[in-house]
Amino acid sequence: MATASEIAAVGVIGAGQMGSGIAQLAAAAGCAVLLLDADPAALSLAVASISASLRRLAAKGQLSQAACEDSIKRIRCVSTVQDLRDADLVIEAIVEKEDVKKKLFVELDKITKSSAILASNTSSISITRLASATRRPSQVIGMHFFNPPPIMKLIEIIRGADTSDEVFAAVKSFSERLGKSVICSQDYPGFIVNRILMPMINEAFWALYTGVATKEDIDTGMKLGTNHPMGPLQLADFIGLDVCLSVLRVLHSGLGDNKYSPCPLLVQYVDAGRLGKKRGVGVYSYG
Ligand code: CAA
Ligand code: NAD
Repeated sequence: MATASEIAAVGVIGAGQMGSGIAQLAAAAGCAVLLLDADPAALSLAVASISASLRRLAAKGQLSQAACEDSIKRIRCVSTVQDLRDADLVIEAIVEKEDVKKKLFVELDKITKSSAILASNTSSISITRLASATRRPSQVIGMHFFNPPPIMKLIEIIRGADTSDEVFAAVKSFSERLGKSVICSQDYPGFIVNRILMPMINEAFWALYTGVATKEDIDTGMKLGTNHPMGPLQLADFIGLDVCLSVLRVLHSGLGDNKYSPCPLLVQYVDAGRLGKKRGVGVYSYG
């Protein structure tokens, strides 16, 4: 198994909001990145947004022009899981659905080299259960980035029941190599941050649903009243309402407490395809 400094090739699966940012970070840290998505359009969008983001950093003098162009060149889009066979570390950032992730982990376990570490960027799903879909549970770990990955300073690491000390140490050092601070959570639904954040977002939906205030006043209240960079409804749109709903469902079923039951308004928005900023409409509309 590769140590953090030996991690040279990183597979990133899912080229959406999170996967694209994770690919950018790994490429900027000098890794060869193999970026995979089921949707070719997502890959094209990801390459465009990563290139724009890196060039913005270069324009601001935070990265040399050469480092910027080299980072872009280190990212290769691929179309099958087989293309990840030489990766030292694979970071999965696909849809927040346990059955879909498990199916992918079964495939990854078959295809990747036996020393590869398999990480999930899941927001809430049990790492132990994802690991149990493989024959290498000691090499499966949660590596939870925050949105937007290039800006947010944290990675939350989640050890499954069987994650080895070596794998934990390698992923912790690799996270630091990406310039992030690390916290470590036990493998319980929603881990640390989403266990606390999502009930707040859900409560904001309840406040809107029950007519406590307008969406604007709820958000302004939390921004100016508690110094959050975004109000909770704006943040929900930024995260993706589908992701918020999936996390709340995991909290609700995993912790068995009705306080996590998703607000019907959030459910209705997701049913209507109003998934937030990434779809142009959620609680707010984006032009
Ligand atoms: N990629 C790269 N850089 C970005 C970016 C992105 N997607 N979005 C913004 N930036 C950069 C901008 O270029 C800008 O850089 P400079 O200051 O050097 O010019 C900087 O970030 C600030 O951006 P803006 O001025 O455009 O906007 P802002 O000041 O409102 O900041 C924000 C944007 C950083 C997103 C800020 O609003 C914020 O921190 N919001 C809260 C984000 C948050 O809480 N994320 C965690 C969500 S929970 C989660 O991720 C876990 C989960 O499982 C759901
Ligand atoms: P997204 O909808 O922006 O992107 C998901 C991508 O995965 C899409 O491009 C989709 O085409 C692709 N995909 C879906 N199933 C696939 C499969 N089987 N194989 C290959 N590609 C597949 O979602 P996102 O917001 O980037 O979230 C991705 C993961 O990261 C989720 O597990 C989510 O919970 C987690 N996460 C999200 C945030 C956030 O703020 N959005 C923060 C931290 C973690």
